Amino acid sequence: MPALIQQSSFRRLNVKPLHPTFGAEIEDVNLTDVSDETFQEISAAMAKYGFCIFRNTGLDDTSHVEFSRRFGDLDDIRPYMTGGRKPRYDYYELFDAGNVDNDGNVLVVDSARHHYGRGNSFFHVDSSFNPRRSSYSLLRAAILPPPNTGGNTEFADTRSAFETLPKELQDRLINNDYVGVHSLHHSRKRGSPEYFADLNPLDYNMHRHRICQIHEPSGRRNLYIGSHMRHIEGLSDLESWELVWSLMGWATRPENTVSVEWKNQGDLIIWDNTAVMHRAAGGSFEGKHVRDLRRTTVHDASSTAWGLNEQKDSRPGFNSNGKEQISL
Ligand code: OGA
Ligand code: MN
Repeated sequence: MPALIQQSSFRRLNVKPLHPTFGAEIEDVNLTDVSDETFQEISAAMAKYGFCIFRNTGLDDTSHVEFSRRFGDLDDIRPYMTGGRKPRYDYYELFDAGNVDNDGNVLVVDSARHHYGRGNSFFHVDSSFNPRRSSYSLLRAAILPPPNTGGNTEFADTRSAFETLPKELQDRLINNDYVGVHSLHHSRKRGSPEYFADLNPLDYNMHRHRICQIHEPSGRRNLYIGSHMRHIEGLSDLESWELVWSLMGWATRPENTVSVEWKNQGDLIIWDNTAVMHRAAGGSFEGKHVRDLRRTTVHDASSTAWGLNEQKDSRPGFNSNGKEQISL
């Protein structure tokens, strides 16, 4: 049985659960000035719900980065800044999840960055392709497309996905303690197979993390999977493919997912990559309207943060094999 969410017991936060097993909306917290007590409640809400959307946060680039630092060391975009590429923002800690080109225009649908971004429409966890995985991602709306043109962000509950699996499959996962092998190049190629036809993910480094892990903040088991996971170590190609797709299919059933609408500039969603997956839902805004979302990403500090990888910085960057350079 999945752990069902009980009635909210938060004193400082106005928490509205979004689904029977995960997700919450939290209104009117000024995240530019968060007391230690409120921060403790935010951390407790995150452990319980896996992701929280905060409305009307008042955050800008500077306060977004500052607030994020309270959760731990931040990842940065330096691995992607090769070949003279320049970051779009003043902070290397801000990842660009939007559709805006370097001149401020909407990305052309056939541009290199558009093809790169298509991989984000599959359920994934951020940075599982890195040696050290990430815990929280904090995604903020800087500019939103008009209402009813799409652009939601969707979530899948990977803790309750494990808890609701048939017992034989749970036992198989626990007894074999499988290792997933994660590749940024694999998920980019899946997102746009024709554009990346010449790219072979096996030419690039991949990183290894166990699939069935304890989520330390809640003590619950989690399925650490997602679209960067290329295969499972020690299985034949066919067995690996079957298991990857049965786990992904199970975890992303409609009853295990929630779609979240962005409403206002300054809305912020914090998700825990070690408890949920997420994806960009797309919509009719694409190619027409700006959707400028900016993300900070916190390095995991749990005991399994580095998975089975060497503890050194070997984060893969991305260049699309002779095609137009991609600047994130
Ligand atoms: C991300 C991401 C989804 C979205 O920023 O990591 O996957 O809806 N974003 O933009
Ligand atoms: Mn993502």
